[in-house]
Amino acid sequence: MSWLKRRFQLGDLSLPSNIFCAPLAGCSDLAFRRMTTRYQPGLVFCEMVKMDALIRNDPNTYRLLDYEQGMHPIGAQLCGSKAHMAGPCAKIVEDLGFDLVDLNCGCPVDKVTKDGSGSGLLKNPELIGEIICNMVAAVKIPVTIKIRAGWDSQHINAQEITQIAEAAGAQSICIHGRTRAQAYKGPANWDHIRDCKQVAKKIHVIGNGDLTDAASVENMFAYTGCDGVLIARGTMGQPWIIEDIYRHLSGLPPFPRSPIDYRDAMLEHLDHMVSYLPERQVVVDMRRVGCWYLKKGRGTKALRETLNRAQSIVEICSLIQEFRWHETNFSEPIPSELATCEAEC
Ligand SMILES: Cc1cc2nc3c(=O)[nH]c(=O)nc-3n(C[C@H](O)[C@H](O)[C@H](O)COP(=O)(O)O)c2cc1C
Repeated sequence: MSWLKRRFQLGDLSLPSNIFCAPLAGCSDLAFRRMTTRYQPGLVFCEMVKMDALIRNDPNTYRLLDYEQGMHPIGAQLCGSKAHMAGPCAKIVEDLGFDLVDLNCGCPVDKVTKDGSGSGLLKNPELIGEIICNMVAAVKIPVTIKIRAGWDSQHINAQEITQIAEAAGAQSICIHGRTRAQAYKGPANWDHIRDCKQVAKKIHVIGNGDLTDAASVENMFAYTGCDGVLIARGTMGQPWIIEDIYRHLSGLPPFPRSPIDYRDAMLEHLDHMVSYLPERQVVVDMRRVGCWYLKKGRGTKALRETLNRAQSIVEICSLIQEFRWHETNFSEPIPSELATCEAEC
């Protein structure tokens, strides 16, 4: 099994492994990436940025691309459908020092797809080819693409896009095994990833969707024959999932995590947020971030509820520190509380 995890070559870029952390809009910010890069994924991504916003020098958009030297290898992801912007935007990303640039063809949100961006591009595969060509012509760093299986179950076209992206010069294609119509609901269908691997000649195929633990990663490799995997929601509240995967693929059990480990990780994540964000945003974001860490913990509902009402960083710290962690249990799944937490997050 250890052969599943391997160094990964994308053009001239040599990545330490083929286990990647996904772009997550509103989540994979600097604080989040400080937590995940500690476990040395093959690649991390900033959240997607809009091409138009980069071109008009929007400072909030540039802020989404903040990173630290220890976060390499790191990718930036562009979202947009205007082919003439794609080359200049890829160049901006290259000049900012990113190791690769990716094209988003997966975002399902109406306000993104309405101008043909994100998963809207799935309806126009030729435009995808044109955008990728322009990106490849503009930069030396590898250009990659992330897609969904198709717009809906009647319009599955991931294989066609794999061939178009390959011909246009993309080094890898990540397939999220859901359609746009599914958004994030229902299981990801890994058949589509396997199908893309079958038509791929040079382009590397990265599998994505429902990778929640080390065992699911092993299953993804076995089922699809993919070259690498991209972990998305599986990184939320368990930044050590990368370490768990590396250990599993080397035949080792995961390190056990006690309630105190979860507490310490939450406090550390909070610390990173405090060093980077204004207080009001920390307070609001911590409702969601706290929920990620607590969702697997039996007996943590009271803490989740109080975090949701907290008004200051000091209050959040004391809520976490004074909580009765010894009365919680993080080692057994709790489907009903998990459902509550997901609704809250
Ligand atoms: C909150 C959230 C934000 C996301 N943001 C992005 C994004 O910026 N770019 C992107 O390509 N995919 C984005 N995705 C999709 C994920 O990268 C991934 O493809 C998807 O969640 C499926 O993987 P999973 O089932 O393992 O979570 C986002 C998903 C979520 C839940």
